[in-house]
Amino acid sequence: MIDITIDDKKISAKKDQTILQLAQENGIKIPHLCFHAALKPSGSCKLCGVEVASPSGKQVVMLSCIIKAKKNLIVKTNSALVKAKREEAFNKLLQMAPESSTIRNLAKQFDVSVTSPPNGCIRCRLCIRVCNEVIKAKALKMVKTENGNMVVPQAGRCIGCGTCANLCPTNIIKMVDEGSVRTVSIKEEVIEQLPLERCEGCGKMFATSDFQEFVKESIATHPDTKELHMLCPSCKKSMSNIVKTERERMKK
Ligand code: SF4
Ligand code: FES
Repeated sequence: MIDITIDDKKISAKKDQTILQLAQENGIKIPHLCFHAALKPSGSCKLCGVEVASPSGKQVVMLSCIIKAKKNLIVKTNSALVKAKREEAFNKLLQMAPESSTIRNLAKQFDVSVTSPPNGCIRCRLCIRVCNEVIKAKALKMVKTENGNMVVPQAGRCIGCGTCANLCPTNIIKMVDEGSVRTVSIKEEVIEQLPLERCEGCGKMFATSDFQEFVKESIATHPDTKELHMLCPSCKKSMSNIVKTERERMKK
């Protein structure tokens, strides 16, 4: 038997036993992902680092799934050096698999602070700016969440115009029309669900009543915008052409 110490605990190891195996047998937790008892260790994930003294006497972090027990080896599984390397390793893995709940849960278990998962928003604020400055509905705002800054709805303010969804460069704001209802959502959160109005020309559902009201009340410079607001874009186009021809005819 070989006597070693892990976290101040004296442990007797068999020949060729790794530190990770010994730790597991003795209820000492070390994070690991690429180790499997039926396979040769590969040292890929780098999560299982522990602090030991190198042959020169310097304290170093080595992979516990690979290093074997040696007489009088002193192992630390939770030193500052180990924690720093562990955090680095977790974050490297998350760069490759940012949404992995296995990695994130393991990091949490070992109290390792890791980068927030991407939420698909690049914080360009186009959605908020257009809603505030052009539509003036002020239906969106940016808030701090545990996953970083995120755009969230301001209850009851959305008029369902869809301008934010059209401008969002990453497409995380979606506008879906189903039957007579328009749903605007960001990620999985519904911003608003609003009833749709029919086009007075072709009868197709095309805009929310709140948006129609907005257009009616708006001080648009083009006179047709007010006149034709109850028409869908294609009927509006045909009607504009008719109105234009008629105006030209009247001028003659
Ligand atoms: S939701 Fe889209 S438009 Fe709004 S800030 Fe994020 S990326 Fe930009
Ligand atoms: S368990 Fe992955 S490197 Fe040791």
